[in-house]
Amino acid sequence: MEKYRLRLDVNNMMAQYVGAKGFTEQELENAKADAKKAFEFVEANRGTGMMGWTELPYNQNDIVDDIIATAKEIQNKFDYFVVLGIGGSALGPIAIQQALNHLHYNDLPKEKRGGCPKLFVEDNVDPERMSALFDVIELEKTCFNVISKSGSTSETMTQYLILWDALKKKLGDEAKNHIIATTDAEKGNLIKLCQKEGFKKYVIPDGVGGRFSEMCPVGLLAAAVCGIDIKAMLAGAAYMDSISKSDDIYANAPLMAATMQYLAMNKGCNISVMMPYADSLKFMADWYCQLWGESLGKKYDLDGNVVNVGQTPVKALGVTDQHSQVQLYTEGPFDKVVTIIGVDNYRTVVKIADGCEDIPAVNFLCGHTMNELITAERVATEYALLKSGHLNHTIMLPEVNAFTIGELMYFYELETAYCGAMLNINTFDQPGVEEGKNATYALLGRPGYDEKRAELNQIPQKDNKFIV
Ligand code: PA5
Repeated sequence: MEKYRLRLDVNNMMAQYVGAKGFTEQELENAKADAKKAFEFVEANRGTGMMGWTELPYNQNDIVDDIIATAKEIQNKFDYFVVLGIGGSALGPIAIQQALNHLHYNDLPKEKRGGCPKLFVEDNVDPERMSALFDVIELEKTCFNVISKSGSTSETMTQYLILWDALKKKLGDEAKNHIIATTDAEKGNLIKLCQKEGFKKYVIPDGVGGRFSEMCPVGLLAAAVCGIDIKAMLAGAAYMDSISKSDDIYANAPLMAATMQYLAMNKGCNISVMMPYADSLKFMADWYCQLWGESLGKKYDLDGNVVNVGQTPVKALGVTDQHSQVQLYTEGPFDKVVTIIGVDNYRTVVKIADGCEDIPAVNFLCGHTMNELITAERVATEYALLKSGHLNHTIMLPEVNAFTIGELMYFYELETAYCGAMLNINTFDQPGVEEGKNATYALLGRPGYDEKRAELNQIPQKDNKFIV
C-alpha cells in the first residue's frame, strides 16, 4: 500500500519559497490549534449526523458483494448502462469512469470493454441531450440507474419519467427489470416508486450527502458495471483514512491541505484551482468543484453570524490550460491557490518519434517520451507560479488506479470536512441549492409550494430599459 501512497508537497505555499504571499512557519504554528480543533471535531463526529461517509470504507462488505453480483448480471444482459441523476449523483460516477477506464471507453468494441456495457451519465435536463441519448442506446438493451438521495430532484425525476415511459411503451411488463433505483431507505418519492413498480433498489446510507456519496452504491454500482475494482477503491479510501489519524498537520496530509486553504482564505485567496496533469483526472476536478463549492460556500456560521465564506473552485487541465489559464494564474491577481495533481507513472509510455534532425528547435523533443514532456510541463508550471509569487501546492499520485483514486477522493472529503470545521460552518448542508430546487417546484406547480410561488410573484417586474 505504501507504494501507492499519495504525497502532498506544500513548499510552494511557504513564504521562504513563494515570497510575500506565502505563509511563515510561525503562521503555520499559530494555525495548529485551529487544525487540532478541526481534527477533533471530525473524529468526534465520525459516523454520526451527516458524517456517515466516514464509515463507507468499512461497513459495506455485504452490499459490495451484492453490487458485484448485480454488475455481472447487468454485463451479461445489457449493452448500455445509463445513470439518471444530477450533482452528487452524477459527478462521482463520471469522474471514476474517466479516471479508471479507457479514455475512449464507449467507442471501443464490447470485447475490448471486457464485455461491459457502454456508460452514459445524464447530468442535466437539456432536451437536446435527452434526445441525443435515444440516438445512441437501444432501450431493450439498456439498464437505467436512477439515483437521488432526496428522491424528489426535478431533474432526476424528469429523466426518469421520460425513460420509464419509453421503456413501458417498448417493453411492457419487462420494463421494470431495466430500472435500478438508488435512494434513501425511507424518504422521498423514488422509494415509493420502487415499491409501486417493483424496481430493484440500493440504499444511500444515512449521513451520506450527495457530494460525499461516491463510495456508496451511488458510485460503486456504475463503477462495478464498467469493470472497475470497487474493493480496491474502498481499500484506498480506508488507507487514506488510516494515514490521517493525527492532529498534527505534519502527519496528516488532508489536515495540512485544509489548514493551508484556510490560511489562504483568511488572506483573501477566494479561488481554488484544481489542475490535474492527466486527462484521466479531468472530471475529478468537476467532482472536486461540487464538493468544495457546495460544502464551504456558506452564508452563516454555526453561531448564526453572517459570514459569506467559501472559495470558488475552478477546474483546469494540465497541460491544456497552460495555453488558456496559466497566464492569468501567474500574472493575475493574488486571489488563488492552485492545486496541481501530478502522476509519477502514467499507464502507458509514448515515445516521441525521431525525424527532425535538421531543425534543432524541434529535434530536442525527439528521443524523449510524452511522459517526460507532460512531467516537465507540470514542473515548469509549478516553477512559473513559484517565480511569480502565486500560492500553489502539488499532490502526487504514484499512478492512477482504483486504490489511488479511492485515496484521492477520501483525501478531499477529509480536507473539506476539516476546512469546514475551521470555518465553523455546516459543511454538509446546501440551503442555496435547496432554494433553487424549491423555486423550480413552485414555478412548475408542485403541490405544497403555493407560498414559494407567492414569494416568486413578489419579484419586482423587470425594467425594459435594462433589456437591450
Ligand atoms: O451534494 C448534494 O447533496 C447535491 O448536490 C445533490 O447531490 C444534488 O442536488 C442531487 O440531489 P438528489 O440526490 O437528492 O437528487
